[in-house]
Amino acid sequence: MVSSTPLTHSSGHSRFKTVLWLSLGFTALFVFITSEALLVTDYPMYHAYRLQVIADRHLLIPHALSGLIALLAGPIQFSSRLRQRHLKFHRVLGRTYVISVFIGAFTGIALAAGRPGLPGTSMQAAAWIVCTTAAVITARNRQIVQHRQWMARSYAVTFTFVSSRVLNLWPRYWSHLGDALAAVGVIAFTLVSLLVVDIGLNWRELTTRRA
Ligand code: HEM
Repeated sequence: MVSSTPLTHSSGHSRFKTVLWLSLGFTALFVFITSEALLVTDYPMYHAYRLQVIADRHLLIPHALSGLIALLAGPIQFSSRLRQRHLKFHRVLGRTYVISVFIGAFTGIALAAGRPGLPGTSMQAAAWIVCTTAAVITARNRQIVQHRQWMARSYAVTFTFVSSRVLNLWPRYWSHLGDALAAVGVIAFTLVSLLVVDIGLNWRELTTRRA
């Protein structure tokens, strides 16, 4: 009985991880189809935004590419098996993730410069940079538990690209939000993402009482 507890816990944990990554993957796929593919094919509701995206292409191409690298690197970096077997690859991909986050954040701010979305984007970019920098520092200090926690927070901000677009097809969300609410929305998505991760990281402490 005693020896089965950790085994049950670890198999439950890995099942949870699988379900979590599958859910995130399907949500990302849904958003890429309903936002990005429809933007490319000139879906009428997105037409005005499409013109803006085309005008911004010089900043948007490095921004979207670096964001995509960060988004795809996440699930690979969180794989315990891959980390244990290929530590060097984990380090190389980790550096690529960090560079991508910095490029994504600064090009994101540049894209929003002079527009009403600047305060929201700046907060989002600041959270992205702070969490990623803390993950780098804790890795350098060999504080591996904290490194994983900061990486989870950093990836939560990376994932706001997806979560903030889930409702895009809903016309009321897309066109009636207004500039101020849209900026508040970006900050809210960032804050909620970070809170959800922190609740997850403290789940055991929140649900079990110490003997
Ligand atoms: C997974 C990470 C990310 C990816 C793949 C990504 C990709 C893109 C793409 C493809 C666009 C243009 C099409 C669209 O809006 O759907 C875009 C727009 C934009 N992104 Fe990102 N992005 C990411 C994260 C971020 C983050 C964290 C920020 C904040 C610093 C940000 C700031 C912006 C801004 C300001 C725009 C222009 C929005 C507008 O003009 O209304 N992005 N991004």
